[in-house]
Amino acid sequence: VKKTKIAFVGLGYVGLSTALCLADNGFQVQGFDVDKRKVKALRDGNPLIHEKGIDLMLRRTLRSGKFIPEDGFRDVSESKIIFITVGTPSRPDGSIETEYVESAAREVGKQLRSASGYHLVVVKSTVIPGTTEGKIRPSIERESGRKIGTSLGLASNPEFLHEGAAVYETLHPDALVIGGADKKSSATLKEMYDSFYGKPQPTVLTTIPNAEMMKYAINSGRASQLSFVNTIANYCTRVPGCDYSEVRKGLSLVAKMDGRYLSAGLGFGGSCLPKDARALAAALKTAGVDPALVSSSLTINDNQVNEAIRLAEGIGGGLEGKRVAVLGLAFKAGTDDIRESVSIALVGALLKKRADVHIYDPVAMKNAKALLGSQVTYAKSAKDCIRNSDCAFIATGWDEFLRIRPADFRRLMKSPILVDGRRIYDQRKYLIGKVKIKTIGTCPADESLSPSDAM
Ligand SMILES: NC(=O)c1ccc[n+]([C@@H]2O[C@H](COP(=O)([O-])OP(=O)(O)OC[C@H]3O[C@@H](n4cnc5c(N)ncnc54)[C@H](O)[C@@H]3O)[C@@H](O)[C@H]2O)c1
Repeated sequence: VKKTKIAFVGLGYVGLSTALCLADNGFQVQGFDVDKRKVKALRDGNPLIHEKGIDLMLRRTLRSGKFIPEDGFRDVSESKIIFITVGTPSRPDGSIETEYVESAAREVGKQLRSASGYHLVVVKSTVIPGTTEGKIRPSIERESGRKIGTSLGLASNPEFLHEGAAVYETLHPDALVIGGADKKSSATLKEMYDSFYGKPQPTVLTTIPNAEMMKYAINSGRASQLSFVNTIANYCTRVPGCDYSEVRKGLSLVAKMDGRYLSAGLGFGGSCLPKDARALAAALKTAGVDPALVSSSLTINDNQVNEAIRLAEGIGGGLEGKRVAVLGLAFKAGTDDIRESVSIALVGALLKKRADVHIYDPVAMKNAKALLGSQVTYAKSAKDCIRNSDCAFIATGWDEFLRIRPADFRRLMKSPILVDGRRIYDQRKYLIGKVKIKTIGTCPADESLSPSDAM
């Protein structure tokens, strides 16, 4: 099977990570993207994204000739399995933009018109249930002049990787979901994965609409759990002696909630959870199903920024004209992705309050600059960022920020007011170190440790 050529249409976080893992494993992989600048960088060995392990893998697979990035559709039909991994961004009403997947499907269909032999098209992009059968199948069949069946297969294979761990999780998935238009489609994809992993992985073999539905059910469930957790954490912040870290143990050990979605704080962001929850809410509404449970997870999430600002203002008063440091811009540690990052929403809310905002992130500065321009000041380091500030927020849980000791906050800041929006610090240690710290989800029981007394 490893002789099988595989193609990826769309070389973003998902397409590139998966393509490189397959190429590194011995598959011959063609990669297509419409973004000429991206393809040029890839050819030069620059993945353009910060993702653990991806640089080396790119250089290795370019050198071995196993991965060939192209900016035009050329000889796609040489590949037996063609993955569609283009973006499906939000439209203003929350529904997803399907134009990119549809245009990719049309291009692939055209390429398959004069091709011979069996081809399988796999939709890996996240699409609303019904999209693959309702929009992608007709495009491919029309453009190729072939029907899905004996010589042409179609499958949905939703992606569950987390940015920052994309390579690791592609190599070690929890489980695979394969929705096939027919038995041959599912079997062909499963065979490829069996060969890639060397042994069968836990796999849900199902139909295309069920596979699509699973992706939204899982991501929206995760979004709901995170907003539930933040509701509890916000309550903890208000009850002396409550610490969400303790409550979390119960959620994990007694309620057996997924530990990867138990972090309380500023809320979730990124290119998936908010977008998928929004798309599901929009689809539920259209389908006449009450979307309240899904929509409220988004409202709660949006409000976490105000909760963090409330904590800061509770200690130091209004933020207008104050110099405020925001540490962390990526939507989470381990990535340079700032799409829908809560940190960026926090910066926006602070600017609205007319604060003088200084920002720093270990890897996302370039992306932040492209988005925020001259509205903020860019610091060279975390310590440079908090220097002379009136207030600081931890907005992304980078390990690097753990190196800022209480004494550093005291020495560098004008007044050491700190809101830990990601619960990275041991609050007691910082209170004892005379930092006026507020942590989302923690309320000190000991009055002598409360921020006002600690000074
Ligand atoms: N990022 C994640 O963590 C993640 C996880 C699971 C699922 N997904 C889903 O996977 C899909 C891709 O996400 P991503 O984060 O990799 O997106 P991305 O925006 O990083 O990359 C998409 C790529 O597709 C390219 N593209 C667009 N139209 C094209 C076309 N017609 N032909 C060829 N290339 C085209 C773009 O230039 C871009 O490079 C989305 O549907 C997303 O919801 C993403």
